[in-house]
Amino acid sequence: MSVSQQVFLRDAMRRLNLTRDVFAGRIGVKRRALDTWLLPEGSQEFRAMPEVVNRFVTEIVENEGLLQKYAQSAQTGPLRNRIAAEGKHQLLSVDQFSRESVEELFRIADQMQPIARRQKVSRVLEGAVLGNLFFEASTRTRVSFGAAFCRLGGSVCDTTGFTFSSMAKGESIYDTSRVMSGYVDAMVIRHPEKGSVAEFARATNIPVVNGGDGPGEHPSQALLDLYTILTEFSRLGKLLDGAHIALVGDLKYGRTVHSLLKLLSLYRGLKFTLVSPRGLEMPDYIQDQVSTRGHVIEQSHSLEQGLQGADVIYATRVQKERFAAEELEGYTPDFQVNKAIVDQCCGPDVIVMHPLPRDSREGANDLSVDLNHDPRLAIFRQTDNGIPVRMAIFAVLLGVESLVQHSLRDVTWSPPTHIGPDDSIFHGMD
Ligand code: CP
Repeated sequence: MSVSQQVFLRDAMRRLNLTRDVFAGRIGVKRRALDTWLLPEGSQEFRAMPEVVNRFVTEIVENEGLLQKYAQSAQTGPLRNRIAAEGKHQLLSVDQFSRESVEELFRIADQMQPIARRQKVSRVLEGAVLGNLFFEASTRTRVSFGAAFCRLGGSVCDTTGFTFSSMAKGESIYDTSRVMSGYVDAMVIRHPEKGSVAEFARATNIPVVNGGDGPGEHPSQALLDLYTILTEFSRLGKLLDGAHIALVGDLKYGRTVHSLLKLLSLYRGLKFTLVSPRGLEMPDYIQDQVSTRGHVIEQSHSLEQGLQGADVIYATRVQKERFAAEELEGYTPDFQVNKAIVDQCCGPDVIVMHPLPRDSREGANDLSVDLNHDPRLAIFRQTDNGIPVRMAIFAVLLGVESLVQHSLRDVTWSPPTHIGPDDSIFHGMD
């Protein structure tokens, strides 16, 4: 097998769109056996899958015509050409993806997991330099894109804030972008104005990634969010088609929810509840785009009403830095996602997400810390997934995804098995 059995099985379940229970039944094995085959190779309970199962799964996938479907798309060229925008290898919006291409990206992200979990190293981007240009505050996006590039063997040059860039001296986006293109091999850009990253991209032929353009989009965040939902659902035995997703908070200015709602709409028959304070509703143009794909959208100004029966609660921070006329400083207490409301409205297998940062200051009433020890809280599994997904984005945009598998070597150091003190027993397991 050219990929690990974990990547192979996860890919097969995604292509067949089957839960673990149904997939185990389909191939005639116990769920427990399947679970052990899906564990990372280094873990204690990992078991090697018999060769006959490999052949049988391949046969099922072939019989469903799914290999053919993927082969047809492969004939039209590498993934970076199929997701290209304006003929260039750049990631500006989730609109560049279809369900097939997003799942192909996730197959590459699965291959990156041993590197992200510090079991393997790779040097496929050796010699390449990333320019991280962040004109707005960031911890996760800037550092995780940088770490992802380094873990593939590349190096990173950073600039943070307008004050320390020559834009403070009046330099244009065009000039900045063209100058940087002579120094680096790819750029990740965050900028406070919607559409500004696309302007950077027009001035260069090197790959550009939108790391957040004002209240516009945050495509890599939405990709890691969707990857997290699919991974969590796989563990819980659920399918995304037909699920109920509650998006909560500042849906007007929150770019992560703009990208996520559009990306989720590539799946089938979802119910979305959009729960926001008055005046911070999801823009109509995004709701219209999603409605035309046949999903149910309900708006609510009540957390209690909007969370009832949700499979996913996705909370967001009030984006005060983007407010013009609005007065709101933080959420009112009845808008806070906390353990009491989650217990009251949802079941034991709901997942609670947030793109982070959450505003922990008094009066902000952002996602409560009283869920920190609750295994339903997926926020740190979500941030951890930023690394394999962003590695996959770079591998695709720079055209090295087919080299990764054979480039892997064992690490020489020993990282802790659980990197956070509150990590759930299953954190990092599948
Ligand atoms: N989620 C996110 O974009 O976080 P940062 O602002 O820290 O990059």
